[in-house]
Amino acid sequence: MREKLQALKEAALSDLEKIESLEALKNLKVQYLGKKGSLTEILRGMGALSAEERPKIGQLVNELRAELEEKINAFNKQLEEKDLAEKIAKEKVDISLPGRVPAHGHLHPITLTMREIKSIFMRMGFDVTEGPEIENDYFNFEALNLPKDHPARDMQDSFYITEEYLLRTHTSPVQARTMQSKKNNEPVRMIAPGKVYRRDYDATHSPMFHQVEGLVIDQEISLADLKGTLELFLKEMFGSSVKIRLRPSFFPFTEPSAEVDISCVICGGKGCRVCKNSGWLEILGSGMVHPNVLTMSGYDPEVVSGFAFGMGVERIAMLKYGIDDLRLFFENDLRFIRQFK
Ligand code: DAH
Repeated sequence: MREKLQALKEAALSDLEKIESLEALKNLKVQYLGKKGSLTEILRGMGALSAEERPKIGQLVNELRAELEEKINAFNKQLEEKDLAEKIAKEKVDISLPGRVPAHGHLHPITLTMREIKSIFMRMGFDVTEGPEIENDYFNFEALNLPKDHPARDMQDSFYITEEYLLRTHTSPVQARTMQSKKNNEPVRMIAPGKVYRRDYDATHSPMFHQVEGLVIDQEISLADLKGTLELFLKEMFGSSVKIRLRPSFFPFTEPSAEVDISCVICGGKGCRVCKNSGWLEILGSGMVHPNVLTMSGYDPEVVSGFAFGMGVERIAMLKYGIDDLRLFFENDLRFIRQFK
């Protein structure tokens, strides 16, 4: 029995020396130590031993098992390390290749334009206010001197949610909301940017678009303040060589009302396709706040006066970037959008 064990040990160790792969090592382990392996077979023969010999041989078997296991495991580790080292040596990394840059997003041209408008007015000391996009009839029309059945309501074809609520057709309701949040003829100097909605869709109209409203109220505010403020804004926006002109117009919430034009930014005023040969571009609506509008929202027209204006952000962006179809802004064609990176 002892000789058998000794022979098995020698055979196992000499086999182990010839092993070159993990696979072969695994087989060797099964061959000697597995359930049907050589060592197990020797154990089976122990029944024939004397009661005295059995524990001694048993101990020898256990020792041999432990020794072989240890050697095999150690060799296993060695082979694994060798394999890994070979893999690493084979793998080629070209460290001179440029890195992979993650895709960067960027702001939409309308957002860029909105931010620029806001920034110019903030530098002039304006607050930035917001109002709800789902507005009621009172703020969208009534409080702006547009009673029910007023024909000027037709200028703004609307999306109604109920008879009472609609998607706001302009940012002007924020004027009334702002005034009603104040007391004692407190001065106001605010702009209100945001989305507005109308039932329109063509190259220059979209059912959703953006406006920036403006409102200034204080003692002795005059048309000169309106003109000076808007001239400064438009020169900041379109360049200092831009000229402006005020054209009489009508809005129910202002009296007098004026349409503000700038000299054409495409042809410089000579006349071209964009300005329809007039040399001028219509850019925003404005006027002196109507006394009815002041009164309805708690201001005293005997004490204060104000001016207001409203502009379409898409129109300004189109002129600034030379875009001739407004729908491009909302079709999300990346070939278009990416030009504003
Ligand atoms: N709310 C007008 C519109 O959407 C634009 C406008 C005109 C606003 C004159 C004003 C204003 O505040 O004074 O057509």
